[in-house]
This record gives sequence, structure tokens and C-alpha cells, in this order.
Amino acid sequence: MKLKGRTALITGASNGIGNAIARRLAADGANIAVVDLVNAEAAAAELAKTGVKTIGIRADVSSEADTAAAVEKTIAALGGVDILVNNAAMTAPPRPFEEIPIAEWRRMLDTNIIGPNLLCRAVSPYMRKQKYGRIINVASDTVHLGVPYMLHYVSSKGALIAFTRALAREFGKDGVNVNAIAPGFTLSERIAKQKDRVEFFRREQLKALAIQRDEFPEDLAGIASFLASEDCAFMTGQTIVVDGGYAMV
Ligand SMILES: NC(=O)c1ccc[n+]([C@@H]2O[C@H](COP(=O)([O-])OP(=O)(O)OC[C@H]3O[C@@H](n4cnc5c(N)ncnc54)[C@H](O)[C@@H]3O)[C@@H](O)[C@H]2O)c1
Repeated sequence: MKLKGRTALITGASNGIGNAIARRLAADGANIAVVDLVNAEAAAAELAKTGVKTIGIRADVSSEADTAAAVEKTIAALGGVDILVNNAAMTAPPRPFEEIPIAEWRRMLDTNIIGPNLLCRAVSPYMRKQKYGRIINVASDTVHLGVPYMLHYVSSKGALIAFTRALAREFGKDGVNVNAIAPGFTLSERIAKQKDRVEFFRREQLKALAIQRDEFPEDLAGIASFLASEDCAFMTGQTIVVDGGYAMV
């Protein structure tokens, strides 16, 4: 129960990696705000069965109004906000970069990098005032691997890693630590449904991992728990790659 008494706001926590992180932080004793476009209340109700306080908030992370309201509702319902997990993101079908519509580029950046920025801005006054905070940004190992055909996605995650480093310096004096996790190809429900993609990964890429097995959302949960805790008091601006040793940085 190392997070007992803490409150975590987790975006994209209805599904996949965000939900696995939410379940783990709840098991550690944290109260949880599930912020998602879909099923936020149902996911929050499920987490409440573990005995922690929860709230489900429907919000689009790319909206300034939604993100500000999500933080306000979290504080009103759960008494504060100590941990922010920027996990929600969009992806898109793979295509050569010349074929990616510019409107899709803009939506990608709005969701995957402006969104985390909006949430960091919204929690900033509270975390600075209480001189404590843990911000965890979910990036991707595609940044380190230079994965092609999803240039806007990879660029948005690269920006998130740069954002993590620079923001860590702005928050260092305030007890607010900012770190990132870079998952590998992870069988969230969304990915597991894409049978061709999973087959391709297993056939062509799995052999390049040091630990040659599928990655599951639960593989990210323990790292998030560490980054959310007192144990990472002197660690900030870092990106932990969790991909079975595919990208080694
Ligand atoms: N699954 C992978 O292979 C993989 C690999 C590397 C990085 N990641 C990153 O991990 C994170 C989670 O991935 P996942 O596979 O669990 O995804 P997922 O699709 O299973 O879950 C994402 C959740 O975010 C929500 N969401 C999407 N856009 C939103 C928005 N604008 N506002 C609020 N909520 C929104 C969705 O409704 C969904 O519940 C993402 O940041 C993703 O880029 C995933």
C-alpha cells in the first residue's frame, strides 16, 4: 500500500496499458480518476471494488476545457492530485509519410503532445503548492527504433520524451518529478485484435528482443508504480524503455 492516501489521475485508463496502470496503482492504495473518451465511469466503478475512491470523467485530452475540468473534478471528488499519468494517445494506420494527411498530423500532435501539456498545466498549481507530484508520460520505443510508416505518431512520442526532460527541469525545485515509460509492442485489447499485425511482429521482430515473448499491459504497471512512488524521489527527466530489450538505450 505504498501509495495509500495519494490520488492518481490517469488518462486513457478505461482500456489497455492505462487500465493496467490504474489497477496497479489502486492495488498500491491510490485513489484513481479515470479520464477517458469512453467508458470512464464503468472503469472507475470496477476499480472502486478494490476499496479505493474513484471517479470516472469523460474528457478529450486534446481539449483545454475538458482537461481543466477533469483536474477540478478529480480534486473535488478525491481531495487532490498527486500523480498524473499521461497515457491516452491516438494511433493511425501505417502509411508512407507523404501519404499522411496533414489534418491527421495535427490531430496526432493535439492528442499525443498538446494533450499531456494541457494536463501538466492543469495540475501544475496544485502540485507546486503542495510541493509534491509525480508525472508519468507514456511514450513509445518506436522513438528509439526509428520505426517507419507512422511518422506523426513516432514524432509525437519523441516530442513527449523531450517534453519530459525539459519539464523535469522546470519542476525540479517543486518536488514534482517527471518521467516517461517507453513501451514496446504491447498486446492491449486494441492491438490484440489486429491479428495480422500481431502475426507480423511475432514472425519478423520478436527475435530481436532479448526476452522473446509477447508484451502485456501488466508489464508496464510495476514500472508506473515505481515512478509514482517515493522510491523515485531523486529520479526525474528519464525515460524507461520497457520492451523486453528490443531497443537498448
Ligand atoms: N500497445 C502498444 O503496442 C503501445 C506501444 C507503445 C506505446 N503505447 C502507448 O501506450 C499508451 C496506451 O496504449 P494502449 O495500446 O493501451 O491503447 P488503447 O487504445 O488500448 O487505450 C487508449 C485509451 O485512451 C483513450 N483515448 C484515446 N484518445 C483519447 C483522447 N483524445 N482523450 C481521452 N482518452 C483518449 C481510449 O479511449 C482508450 O481507452 C498510448 O500512449 C500508446 O501510444 C502503446
